[in-house]
Amino acid sequence: MIQFNWQNAASFVQQTELDHLQAQISLAHETLHKMKGPGSDFLGWLELPRKYDKDEFARIRKAAARIRRQSDVLVVIGIGGSYLGARAAIEFLTGHFHALSSKKQRKAPLVIFAGQNLSADYLNDLLTFLEDKKVSLNVISKSGTTTEPAVAFRVLKGWLEKKVGREAARERIYVTTDRARGALKGLADSEGYETFVVPDDVGGRYSVLTAVGLLPIAAAGIDIRAMMKGARLGMQALRRPTLADNPSYTYAALRNILLRKGYAIELMVNYEPSMHYLTEWWKQLFGESEGKDNRGLFPAGVDNTTDLHSMGQYVQEGRRILFETVVQIDRSRSELIVPEDPDNLDGLNFLSGTDLHEINRKAAQGTMLAHVDGGVPNLSVLMPDRTPESFGELVVFFEKACAVSGYLNAVNPFDQPGVEAYKQNMFALLGKPGYEDRQAELEARLAVNGTVEK
Ligand code: PA5
Repeated sequence: MIQFNWQNAASFVQQTELDHLQAQISLAHETLHKMKGPGSDFLGWLELPRKYDKDEFARIRKAAARIRRQSDVLVVIGIGGSYLGARAAIEFLTGHFHALSSKKQRKAPLVIFAGQNLSADYLNDLLTFLEDKKVSLNVISKSGTTTEPAVAFRVLKGWLEKKVGREAARERIYVTTDRARGALKGLADSEGYETFVVPDDVGGRYSVLTAVGLLPIAAAGIDIRAMMKGARLGMQALRRPTLADNPSYTYAALRNILLRKGYAIELMVNYEPSMHYLTEWWKQLFGESEGKDNRGLFPAGVDNTTDLHSMGQYVQEGRRILFETVVQIDRSRSELIVPEDPDNLDGLNFLSGTDLHEINRKAAQGTMLAHVDGGVPNLSVLMPDRTPESFGELVVFFEKACAVSGYLNAVNPFDQPGVEAYKQNMFALLGKPGYEDRQAELEARLAVNGTVEK
């Protein structure tokens, strides 16, 4: 099971401070579990690992097997919560060079993501890459109206229909969206695409354990039953309100104590390249859940030891406004022993016979102590291994911490009102009907700034 440890924050936070937060944590726990707080319509994720739709789960596994048979490439089209969970899982759980291997080596199609940006070059490069491949599409959007994936789907659907014909394209397009509403649901029904459901009571960033994450993850050849099992065991282990019994709540409490002391940035630190997108998923989960009403920690991330040679200087000696949450893996999947070199010109023979994973661990320990000495509190999350079970457990560890953290900080952790502002401006500037006044106002501002031509 996942272990949480805060001994490297103990010189910044007293046990009594944690004890004082117990009452607030208990209240947040009750608010969450009795569904009494803001956003309580979006608590389906709490029950997901146990109460998921078993028929749909079986359909996901079947569709994934079909995608594996029929495609060289699965293009997953989505953004935010309809994108990051699947990408985090696939990058964490497949091999580092999975994408560069052949389909035979991978035993699964290559999973590529689209609709997570508006870059013309990205989409054109993707179309060129797809030209000689057998392609399936999984478009994912809860609302069914998000601009980025909608544009990408329009382009990719048209491209696929032109390439294989409308009938054959229908067999290769999978839609994950609302059960009954939205433009994408309407299109899927009229075209006869196979559809999967984003449950009403699960918000995007909490949806990795629904069809949103599970279909692409299963298509990549990952065992989603094991992932759900890990999540189930994780939820079970995190069911109590007492800090002493609930590491996820202890993490939530500590990060809030640190925030109140002026540590405004939480840096998630990993020592495995496969965890880069796990950090991106975590950034969205916490950033979108907590960053509102002029509050919230700013979630950032580094990939070590790589970033010790870029951001490490700032962490060690820059402004003292950050703390770190270090997520490590106890056992690597494989061993790599440093060889002996008779000449020892690099002076590294003291490492001969040592497993590289152990060297990585010592680098992490040394870094943590150096950063603590430099005034950076360190929290530590230890995963036992790089398996689907551990991934599932980690997901619920952070989801519960995030919900309770939001309630501790008096915000609704399940909405994202601020995301609308850029969309309104973008629509106005693109001349969407109904936005004429706003368009004129924004264009006048841009003309004053002298930055933009129409
Ligand atoms: O967490 C969220 O709700 C958001 O990040 C959404 O997932 C994201 O905006 C995509 O929305 P949709 O699935 O409706 O296209």
